[in-house]
Amino acid sequence: MESTQAKQAMNEPVLTVRNIETYYGPIMAIRGVSLDVPEGEIVTVLGANGAGKTTILKTISGAMDPQKGSIEFKGESIQNKDPDVIARMGMAHVPEGREVFPMLSIRENLDMGAFARKDRDAVEKDRELVYRYFPILKEREDQQAAYLSGGQQQMLAIGRGLMSRPSLMLLDEPSLGLSPRLVKEIFDIIKRLNAEQGVTMLLVEQNANMALHTANYGYVLEVGRIVMVDSCANLLKSDDIKEFYLGQQEDSVRDGRRWKKRKTWR
Ligand SMILES: Nc1ncnc2c1ncn2[C@@H]1O[C@H](COP(=O)(O)OP(=O)(O)O)[C@@H](O)[C@H]1O
Ligand SMILES: [Mg+2]
Repeated sequence: MESTQAKQAMNEPVLTVRNIETYYGPIMAIRGVSLDVPEGEIVTVLGANGAGKTTILKTISGAMDPQKGSIEFKGESIQNKDPDVIARMGMAHVPEGREVFPMLSIRENLDMGAFARKDRDAVEKDRELVYRYFPILKEREDQQAAYLSGGQQQMLAIGRGLMSRPSLMLLDEPSLGLSPRLVKEIFDIIKRLNAEQGVTMLLVEQNANMALHTANYGYVLEVGRIVMVDSCANLLKSDDIKEFYLGQQEDSVRDGRRWKKRKTWR
């Protein structure tokens, strides 16, 4: 515990979220969420379907405005900025469900990720870098993205995010709809991109097992609130996580008051 907290404190946070509340019309989807993403790390937010993971990422990247709370990216307040401004500051949002441009080629999709850049030579090099991590994209460079498999489209969406040379990448459920083998392949690459290219990641996932084995630090989100936060090593050992997110104690009944070690951030 102590060592993980010390580690969290060591690296400067690249992203600091404090008490955000985000609504869909009258419905409060995010109910006062705070989190930190230290530079160079992978932080995960775990949550079931509908917990609010996508809404958190949309709020951070500027696609939605929070009603309350603050968001700082690289020391600058961003909660009222437009998505393109935030993207130019170095944040890449890889959306849920991939959302590639189906009619464009793979190469054109990648270049869309570099829309804000003027350094064309470096963009070429970065495209080659993306191809090194995802060789299948190079092989199919001139084909329309519509013809890629789900896993390949996920690779393309991540590759497109990398093309902006982000200092922070938001990844929305990269495992969704993929086979276990592909999920493993993609998470291995996410880990390598973090270790080798120094890309800081905020990864939201339903796949607790993969996320906890990929990230350093984790938050558990339930119905728009953070109910647990710890190092992933500790979360993997937690009985609540084992029972409710890793399915290791199947016959227990789910109980809203089970979070004995509940922590709140004020
Ligand atoms: N466009 C929308 N309009 C109204 N409610 C929405 C909309 N999108 C999401 N919600 C609701 O907000 C909550 C959080 O959704 P979401 O962030 O998509 O969760 P997750 O990504 O964890 O599955 C859910 O209760 C969902 O039904
Ligand atoms: Mg979602």
